[in-house]
Amino acid sequence: MIDTRVNIAGVELKNPVMTASGTFGSGQEYSEFVDLSRLGAVVTKGVANVPWPGNPTPRVAEVYGGMLNAIGLQNPGIDVFAKRDIPFLKNYDTKIVVNVCGKSTEDYCEVVERLADEPVDLLEINISCPNVKEGGIAFGQNPASAEAITKAVKKVAKQPVIMKLSPNVTDITEMARAVEAGGADAVSLINTLTGMKIDIHRRTFALANKTGGLSGPAVKPVAVRMVYQVANAVKLPIIGMGGIATAEDALEFLLAGATAVSVGTANFFNPETTVEVVRGIEDYMRKYQVSSVTELIGAVR
Ligand SMILES: Cc1cc2nc3c(=O)[nH]c(=O)nc-3n(C[C@H](O)[C@H](O)[C@H](O)COP(=O)(O)O)c2cc1C
Repeated sequence: MIDTRVNIAGVELKNPVMTASGTFGSGQEYSEFVDLSRLGAVVTKGVANVPWPGNPTPRVAEVYGGMLNAIGLQNPGIDVFAKRDIPFLKNYDTKIVVNVCGKSTEDYCEVVERLADEPVDLLEINISCPNVKEGGIAFGQNPASAEAITKAVKKVAKQPVIMKLSPNVTDITEMARAVEAGGADAVSLINTLTGMKIDIHRRTFALANKTGGLSGPAVKPVAVRMVYQVANAVKLPIIGMGGIATAEDALEFLLAGATAVSVGTANFFNPETTVEVVRGIEDYMRKYQVSSVTELIGAVR
């Protein structure tokens, strides 16, 4: 018998495989390809207190080993989200993680307060989106701001709080320590790395926003390195992500110190990636006679 259960801040996941925010909607489209009840958790697209239109198009571009996006956190706002997406996810035997975005501390807190009485298991606070001018990354690149917003959110949150960190910093351990000091229950990393692509035929930027966030297999070594560093800097559980497309990729993150993993961009080129990763981790555990997946977490020192 193998035991794939992991625990994030008191919430038990049936396995360590989650979806990455913004790449899976709230699971509606993917439920045709994937039994959502096979997943440890579904992480929703970022939701704000009011609807956001997102950035002008074009806002996605393909690059070697991944993609650039500058969606700008388009979302329908918490009212529509709570009525439409949460009831949909409740049809499945999986944990629900709601990703929260905002332009100010008050915006974040308003969404978190609205979610207090909803059947949501965990909150993921996005302080790391490189594609919005206000809020988002403004909190995620300065340790004092990151600590302050963590404290503010924790004051009003009923569910455990995961702070989502940006890789666009000199020292990610400084940011992890700051959110730990602010009372975070867990961290997730990495969000996208700021990049740029030029369209040589049109002699302009490939994205209307000029820059966008790089994601996909190309970022995986950077993400694994950062997960390892954070695992050695703080006591918080880590949700690792960045370029995971196979079970082998996911296992690297677990061994580097992540308690769970999220699959993002790979969903776009293979919508069945999440369940394939679940199955692949199970196969690995049988092959190497690992009885509990927790034995793998941070096993590489
Ligand atoms: C199209 C797209 C939209 C995203 N939207 C969000 C979002 O709303 N909130 C968030 O915290 N991260 C968002 N992300 C970042 C992902 O959740 C993830 O951190 C990142 O893409 C790295 O993982 P990956 O390489 O597996 O995609 C988005 C990424 C992509 C590609």
